[in-house]
Amino acid sequence: MKRILTGIQSTNNLTLGNYLGAIKPLIDIKDELYLFIADLHSITVPFNPDELRENRINTALLYKSMGLDFEKNKIFFQSCVPEHNQLNYVLLCHSNLGELQRMTQFKDKSSKFSQENKTLTIPTGILVYPILMAADILLYKPDIVHVGKDQKQHIELTRNLAERMNKKYKKELFKIPEHSFNKVGSKILDLQNPEIKMSKSNENKKGTIFILDSEGDIRKKIMSAKTDSLDNVKYDEENQPGVSNLLTIYSSIKNISITDAEKHFIGKKYGDFKREVADTVVSELKKIQDVFYELKNNKVEKEKLMKQLKKNADECKKIASETIKAVYEAIGMNNE
Ligand code: AMP
Ligand code: TRP
Repeated sequence: MKRILTGIQSTNNLTLGNYLGAIKPLIDIKDELYLFIADLHSITVPFNPDELRENRINTALLYKSMGLDFEKNKIFFQSCVPEHNQLNYVLLCHSNLGELQRMTQFKDKSSKFSQENKTLTIPTGILVYPILMAADILLYKPDIVHVGKDQKQHIELTRNLAERMNKKYKKELFKIPEHSFNKVGSKILDLQNPEIKMSKSNENKKGTIFILDSEGDIRKKIMSAKTDSLDNVKYDEENQPGVSNLLTIYSSIKNISITDAEKHFIGKKYGDFKREVADTVVSELKKIQDVFYELKNNKVEKEKLMKQLKKNADECKKIASETIKAVYEAIGMNNE
């Protein structure tokens, strides 16, 4: 049995991209799964405490509604295990500015800030965020980190930091993790701009489907998704990125291959194709939404879930504190 680890931010609503890229592949997984709600990552950019409070709980309820098993898997809030922060600082002191500034995500995010404000308002959080991510991972010595393709560079940084420290202290302090992403559904693109990934932070909200979107909104967004003038339902990322993206969404939900999805839509007009993709997304998300609202309004069930999250965090803390102890010893801080 392998140890798999993944984290998802609690900022705002989860998107169809999060669900198909990161969560769905984990449901019914046979391996040991560590999955945390990365609430500390949610404060890397300016945030509102009331929203954070609400989003943390909603994210947990959504995971549950999507079918993740909170008893079998170690699902917890990142901030409930303070060792994440402890290792973060130690790793930060073993990193350099150049490797952090090189991160594509930092470049993208920081350019948005400087353009908007034309002044030095780039939050330091977005620069050091990959280090916290490395700490999240290395604490638990996972075999595999499950992430979307956009996170690959952060995993490489994690591996570099782990190797650097193992070498420096001549000890296997950390396991060098591999990363994995699902072949189909690993990257869902923005419906309006199929050059970029679907994300909660994309400016044009018409291109992003949120898990809690109304049926009307989901249909509208899919029906107005950008396609092309070729009128041929075919998977061709380069020439038909919009159509390919809809095929990816369809095949991920149906658990079929892209080729089978293509076959299914042979000869169909784009209007009919989109309508069927919309039906599929609506029916998948409606199942999740029904459970979510039921849970949200059930105080007893909600409290039960919170208790389970706390219990999971306590178990994770035991493992995390062993890693910290070994790291502190190696760097010369023997506190016991
Ligand atoms: P984020 O929403 O950026 O915090 O991402 C949380 C997880 O969902 C990560 O594993 C991402 O790689 C994954 N993810 C986010 N957006 C997408 C997307 N559009 N397609 C596939 N995976 C995604
Ligand atoms: N940075 C990840 C993302 O935006 C979320 C995350 C935080 C994560 N810590 C992690 C993912 C550790 C995997 C492992 O998608």
